[in-house]
Amino acid sequence: MSLALTVLFFGLFHSYVTLASDPDPVNDFCVLNRSSATTSLPCKNSSLVTVEDFVFSGIKFRGKFSETGLASIPVNVNVFPGLNTLGMSMVRADFDVGGVNVPHFHPRATEIAVVLEGKIYSGFVDTQNRIFAKVIEKGEVMVFPRGLVHFQMNVGDTWATILGSFDSQNPGLQKIPSAVFGSNIKEELLEKAFGLTPKEIAKLRKRFAPHRL
Ligand SMILES: *[C@@H]1O[C@H](CO)[C@@H](O)[C@H](O)[C@H]1NC(C)=O
Ligand SMILES: *[C@@H]1O[C@H](CO)[C@@H](O)[C@H](O)[C@H]1NC(C)=O
Repeated sequence: MSLALTVLFFGLFHSYVTLASDPDPVNDFCVLNRSSATTSLPCKNSSLVTVEDFVFSGIKFRGKFSETGLASIPVNVNVFPGLNTLGMSMVRADFDVGGVNVPHFHPRATEIAVVLEGKIYSGFVDTQNRIFAKVIEKGEVMVFPRGLVHFQMNVGDTWATILGSFDSQNPGLQKIPSAVFGSNIKEELLEKAFGLTPKEIAKLRKRFAPHRL
């Protein structure tokens, strides 16, 4: 085989490493114009863009704890239009003592999270259902590969805080309990899938109803 053919061969059949993220921007920035009705004019007029479009102050303070003891504030393009086309976003998550971030995944992004305060039992499960989990502490980071189910729990005796970064401006978030029990999947199907009684299903449906968690 000629060198060119060999290169082509390896290119076609040995692409073990593929690189994927949101598309590259074609302009310096494209601050989302949220009042634009058309998708053909998605960016704010750049003459009207100011430094304020590139600053987000919404994670200076922690949010309100949920029933599971989690206060999470996403910093994605939906709340921070300056991120539009830039292929990244963040989340601040605070945990009450014993607080839990329920098993969930981000369909469009890998996440890397740094512990700013506290001790977090943190992990993910791969597609073979192998678990990779341990307690990480202040200053440590953990990466959660794109689309894999992951979870966290504050196992320290003080509040804990993590800061997660994503390689998507809009990573998406699907929480397993609410996706399964809070989405009106036919009850009979859930009973068969989980081997639960109608009473047990009703309890879970109530707990994960869309307006909660
Ligand atoms: C946003 O889009 C609307 C509708 O197209 C337009 O009237 C307005 O001037 C745009 N705003 C900015 C800041 O570009
Ligand atoms: C953008 O804003 C500037 C300053 O207000 C204005 O002169 C220009 O016409 C606007 N461009 C578009 C495409 O609306």
